[in-house]
Amino acid sequence: MTRPDTIRLATLPTPFEPLPRLAQSLGRNGPAPSIWIKRDDCTGFAGGGNKARKLEYLVADALKRGADMLVTIGAIQSNHARQTAAAAARHGLGCLLLLTDSVANRDGTYRTNGNQLLDRIFGAEIRLLAAGADSSAIAEETMAALAAEGRKPYLIPVGGSNALGSLAYRDALRELATQAKNEGCRIDHIVVPTGSGGTHAGILAGVEEAGLSCRVHGISVSRSSEQARAIVSDLVQGIFSLEGEQRNATSRLDVDDSQVGPGYGQPTAAMVEAVETVARTEGILLDPVYTGKAMAGLLSLVRTGAIGPGETVVFWHTGGLPGLFAYPEVFLR
Ligand SMILES: Cc1ncc(COP(=O)(O)O)c(C=O)c1O
Repeated sequence: MTRPDTIRLATLPTPFEPLPRLAQSLGRNGPAPSIWIKRDDCTGFAGGGNKARKLEYLVADALKRGADMLVTIGAIQSNHARQTAAAAARHGLGCLLLLTDSVANRDGTYRTNGNQLLDRIFGAEIRLLAAGADSSAIAEETMAALAAEGRKPYLIPVGGSNALGSLAYRDALRELATQAKNEGCRIDHIVVPTGSGGTHAGILAGVEEAGLSCRVHGISVSRSSEQARAIVSDLVQGIFSLEGEQRNATSRLDVDDSQVGPGYGQPTAAMVEAVETVARTEGILLDPVYTGKAMAGLLSLVRTGAIGPGETVVFWHTGGLPGLFAYPEVFLR
């Protein structure tokens, strides 16, 4: 198979570091697992985060197809939209963001700060869609209208999660496997947020491909386990079929939906505890929508013994820092 093209956006490899003070804080009542972090918040591009890796494949495909603008979909505080806007700017492309008002009861800074502010600084055009709007249908109509005007738009799906975008996380798992080997670290568990599913799918495809025995725990930030598993499963198959292989990883697909709380983008007490604990033990910032909930999932897996003493867990930090500035009241208690 010919390898899909990529461009360079992210600063790689991202750091792979131990979190000894976090592990120590969990071990007050007995031995704790060893906790490491894969710092994809440090991909650098446009403030960092997981989308930089996916966009390396997706923007390369857009350029190959002669696109003159990128169109994508997300929530008002989408990190993916922010990084897409920056990637478009970097490559002299136009950018249209179709952002749905999907998170109830959030006003004020949610609409003006964080990723919203950055989208505007990167020069993207923003179209707000009402809650409940069929964003996929609107995106298709928008693509047709733009083409009729003579534009060459390229549509990137929500979260950059198609097979091509997700392939970047198969590569990222290879990067982690090399780092772990160099550190003499045997990984038993990986914990990652599961949103549109591509990050989880790519990591799982990489684990399957490398024949590793570690478990990948996707912590859902929006959907039920069943819905998320179906999405991730399709993406894993898509990644393998890009490489001409008929494979899946369904039997090892694990999604935990216990941290979703009232819904996508809605704060939970466990998320706040996780954000504050990691900030106060390790000086690392998580975000309220994805990594805060995923870390809450990790803490819960440790407390229930699903991740046991003597085991090693890697927390995959996927970025999202600008989101903190859209939720100030949650932390100003
Ligand atoms: C900071 C952050 N972490 C995690 C995710 C989830 O990744 P995925 O959509 O690939 O499941 C997102 C998605 O937008 C994100 O912005």
